[in-house]
Amino acid sequence: MEPLNVWDYERLAEEKLDEGSFGYFAGGAGDEHAVRGNVEAFDRWRLRPRVLVDVGEVTAATTVLGTDISMPVIAAPVAFQRMAHPEGEVAVAKAAAEAGTIMCLSSLATSSPADVAGAASDGARWFQLYWHPDRGVTKSLLDGAREAGFAAVLLTVDLPVLGPRERDLRTGFALHSDYRMEVYASALGDFGLVTPSVIGQLVDPSLTWRDLEWLHEHAGLPVIAKGILTAEDAVLAVEHGCDAVVVSNHGGRQLDRAVASLDALPEVADAVGDRVEVLMDGGIRRGTDVAIALALGARAVLIGRPVIWGLAVGGVGGAQHVFELLRDELLIALALLGCPTPDAVGRSHVAAAPRG
Ligand code: FNR
Ligand code: LAC
Repeated sequence: MEPLNVWDYERLAEEKLDEGSFGYFAGGAGDEHAVRGNVEAFDRWRLRPRVLVDVGEVTAATTVLGTDISMPVIAAPVAFQRMAHPEGEVAVAKAAAEAGTIMCLSSLATSSPADVAGAASDGARWFQLYWHPDRGVTKSLLDGAREAGFAAVLLTVDLPVLGPRERDLRTGFALHSDYRMEVYASALGDFGLVTPSVIGQLVDPSLTWRDLEWLHEHAGLPVIAKGILTAEDAVLAVEHGCDAVVVSNHGGRQLDRAVASLDALPEVADAVGDRVEVLMDGGIRRGTDVAIALALGARAVLIGRPVIWGLAVGGVGGAQHVFELLRDELLIALALLGCPTPDAVGRSHVAAAPRG
């Protein structure tokens, strides 16, 4: 079966991956209400197409933080990518560069920032930071990312502790002994067996907004707060100098029963959208989902699991195909909405779905 869409890739990835790896990538916190809720939130909206608009030329190209991208879809930071495919993060970086978009590298990557940069030197890359309790370690991660040409820091703010991941407990998921957390390798050496519970030890739970001053001082790069779900926190992020926010519930992997990312997007866009760019992630599986997110105020979206499914099934080519499928779907959606560019999509292009 030739995969035609992201759902096909998910099915094929499930066949290909062992149960522990698939469970880690697919799963979430607790009863996984928030995982499902992210996808279901799109069902609460309908698109309002405008007709007889000139759509002879439609483009998905746009910018985020001044960087040109071929579509408003970028690769979310996802840990342990070599568990999906031996080429892991390097393959995703190549795929994103080929597709003309940005790749976010996780602090928990199984490839080093330098290797990722070397493999796709012409691609734009952002570095996702988990703030280590030892500031010397945090600083070494920032220095490594900056030296490898990463252009922004995504500070993940929704993981002071790790969410409860029952699939991982049932399968006994652990990082394969052939792979390491390369970003920490020089600062912290070997960890022994890396299970998700190790992740908790890598994050400072006492972090507060006040610490962002230190981050601005030492990052020397734009800072994006990832994991915002309320207007209140979006305002605080802007007041503390963040250059953008990502509306996200971490793919439903942290607080189960958290509000769906899409449901939080309008209040965040209303609160800070005139001051900073608002991005979102969680549950994007179709070009029409991207269109709904744009209409509700997102400048661009990040995709996590879809890239992993493409990577697992077809390495660089599979991940690249996922980006291209979403871009092709978005281009058709834009034309049918009467929007020649992503910027043309606005609030009037969506309506709440009828209750029923
Ligand atoms: C993630 N996510 C994540 N976020 C982050 O800031 N650092 C990380 O290391 C990870 N790791 C990670 C692993 C896996 C397996 C998943 C599925 C997700 C969250 C990720 O960046 C993003 O917020 C969600 O994946 C978006 O939801 P979708 O696109 O997967 O529905
Ligand atoms: C996760 C962490 C690593 O969601 O971000 O698994």
